[in-house]
Amino acid sequence: MKKSKNSIWAAILVFNMFSDKINKGVNGEVIIPGDKSISHRSIIIPSISKGICKVSNILKSEDVLHTLNAFKLMGVKIEETNNDIIIHGNGLESLKKPNKEIYLGNSGTSARLLTGLLASQKFDTRLTGDDSLSSRPMKRITDPLSLMNANIITTNGKLPVLIKGNELQSNKININIPSAQIKSGLILAAINTKGRSTIIENGVTRDHTEIMLESFGANISLKKINGGKEITIEGKKELISKDINVPSDLSSSAFFIIAALIHKNSRIKIKNVNVNPTRNGILIALKKMGAKINIYNKRMLNNEIISDLEVLSSDLKGCELDKDFAKLMIDEYPILSIAASFAETPSIFRGLSELKVKESNRLELIKLNLLRCGVECKVNNDDLFIFPNKNISIINNNIDTNYDHRIAMAFTIMASKIGKLKINESDSINTSFPSFISEFTKIGGKIS
Ligand code: S3P
Repeated sequence: MKKSKNSIWAAILVFNMFSDKINKGVNGEVIIPGDKSISHRSIIIPSISKGICKVSNILKSEDVLHTLNAFKLMGVKIEETNNDIIIHGNGLESLKKPNKEIYLGNSGTSARLLTGLLASQKFDTRLTGDDSLSSRPMKRITDPLSLMNANIITTNGKLPVLIKGNELQSNKININIPSAQIKSGLILAAINTKGRSTIIENGVTRDHTEIMLESFGANISLKKINGGKEITIEGKKELISKDINVPSDLSSSAFFIIAALIHKNSRIKIKNVNVNPTRNGILIALKKMGAKINIYNKRMLNNEIISDLEVLSSDLKGCELDKDFAKLMIDEYPILSIAASFAETPSIFRGLSELKVKESNRLELIKLNLLRCGVECKVNNDDLFIFPNKNISIINNNIDTNYDHRIAMAFTIMASKIGKLKINESDSINTSFPSFISEFTKIGGKIS
């Protein structure tokens, strides 16, 4: 079903988890599903590789299922069991023209990565999405792809896009916007393009695409250059499939990490969490705020660093984060803002322009909803200021999410601390974390 601003979407009412007198805290082990970014890549890359790949612990959320469906439509044989999938890859040139348009729902990652991959195919494809995805920018990927001779027709720079499959030309491309989605789209185009392509990113964004391609034998080399990275790819080399075990998602873990930090008497554990240094900004930021988080049992899983986490209730202080943090934790600002609302001192998070083009304008929605919750805050240019106070008193308990899963989950955690909030359009949670509500109630969350 397409989400439309006219349709009625479910809302949840979330209540205080504890009365002041009996506060047992948040305790136990929380089970976090597979990482969303790695799950998308675990479908895309094996589908264009040679051999059979078993993907364990893949996230079966709406966004990832849209990517899965796209490859089934392009003729890839994919078998599904409960938590695993088996992909039968037939190589770089094996994708078939889909017999209809590919609908990607709310998934920005699918849209940007597939646009890059499909630009070099021998057939045309039309990509569509829901209202929210159709209002997000696509020129950020189609413009740099056009430097490789890609032929893509957008709708005023957005979805639907018609990708006219084309033999691409290798090139050297500088990415101006810090975005792993743009980088990955370009890499996937270069993988199927003759010759040497060079992609330069001026900053560090999540590198799951590069890590997986390296382990599948791609001819890819990575070089650090002043604060950024140069990626060189010799295209048209066949990739060889490998089994993948998807680690737990740090972005999804963050909701429970912060629930434990802000509720007294809490102690939770989360196992097998991806702590890739291009993603772990939230852990660094929380530690700066005085969070008691033990990161232990560090090990490698499919070339990604994973760890177990133990989180204890903490007296948080505010912190100032500069714009470089945004690249390392772009998805965590909604929930970090909740943590900052319970700190001893104010926080400033700088350089959040990219938050405006996510599943919603997250910067605006964080501000609007914090103000409704009675937390003083302001946005100045792209900087967010939060001024916590000890006695938060709700002004308006309606939380507007604009179908944005991370806004919905962040304010669910907020409600567990301050009392009844109505989280509108909360179905969106299924785009990234279908078991969120059951894990939340398992640790004592109260929802109706
Ligand atoms: C993602 C990259 C990020 C992030 C998104 C997932 C990815 O987007 O916000 O949730 O899987 O590559 P940008 O790289 O465009 O910032």
